Amino acid sequence: MHTTAPRKVIFDTDPGVDDAMALYFALAHPGIEVVGITTTFGNVSVEQAAANALYLTAIANRSVPVTQGVSTPWCKPGEAPPDYIHGADGLGNLPSRVATTNRLDPRASAQFIVDMARAQPGAITLVAVGPLGNLSLALKLEPALPRLLREVILMGGTITEPGNVSPVAESNIWNDPHAAEQVFGAGWPLTMVGLDVTHRVVTPLTLFRRIAEHHRHPATDTLHHAVGFYSRFYSAQHPRLASDPGCFAHDVLAFVYLVSPALFTRERGCIRVATDGLAQGQTMLKRLAHLNYPQPGWEANRPLADVCMQVDAAGCLALFEQTLMADWLTR
Ligand code: BDR
Ligand code: CA
Repeated sequence: MHTTAPRKVIFDTDPGVDDAMALYFALAHPGIEVVGITTTFGNVSVEQAAANALYLTAIANRSVPVTQGVSTPWCKPGEAPPDYIHGADGLGNLPSRVATTNRLDPRASAQFIVDMARAQPGAITLVAVGPLGNLSLALKLEPALPRLLREVILMGGTITEPGNVSPVAESNIWNDPHAAEQVFGAGWPLTMVGLDVTHRVVTPLTLFRRIAEHHRHPATDTLHHAVGFYSRFYSAQHPRLASDPGCFAHDVLAFVYLVSPALFTRERGCIRVATDGLAQGQTMLKRLAHLNYPQPGWEANRPLADVCMQVDAAGCLALFEQTLMADWLTR
């Protein structure tokens, strides 16, 4: 039984298969109230991301405002989305879609974030699992945003784990390193959930089959299909996923952290992002608090963030399964 009031969350996302997994975990968990979904380019174009957010909420019979946000990185040129990972439609190339009638909220994602934060100061947590352009634009619209939001939790970056788009860079940060650098320096309570922990938690495809067979519902059938496509990519990339297909639980772990932070161990320090060159997208953590580096950029008064470094993978999987198997879907 969940006893405390649910945490109000704006979900900033580029759905995307693992984004869909995260969205359904959030809609299913009694400790989370999704008050808005803001979309960005990333795994797909922003138009497709918004369409997918509308679709995923509609087939789950949920009414949540969905907005469309930034379509390109802040400074560098955009690139073609990775259709070989998430499918050309972002949901594993669904064979068909049922008709839905929900429509976009007309506001830009950044404006929606600002409006919601001003209306409910200190109440809303921002969970961001895509490139960070919406959040950095919201900061430009409302410089007081760090005091208006309760907390920011983001999936992105890596400290010691090898990157997934270069030896040092994680995809969400690499997709808009300038936006990420601004977000890490904004001075809000911020937790980074990056590859250091998401590469430790593998969600097997068989789990999604069990969930789909349990509910026999369009939402969980769609998720099962999408994860099947996504798992084929990961199983081909990672020998340890070859015999038992599955995928890393990237985005959902940001929500798992929100509701069960005890499943993670953290380090605290200043994080900077490399914005160009070979290390573009690298997230660097100043791990030695007592050291005053002589080089500029690491001054002692810079904002600090928490970084998840270790995770109880079995605990995360159990929570995921228990949450998605619960009675959260209506017809
Ligand atoms: C992140 O990149 C995207 O492809 C996923 O949705 C996730 O947010 C993992 O690096
Ligand atoms: Ca994502």
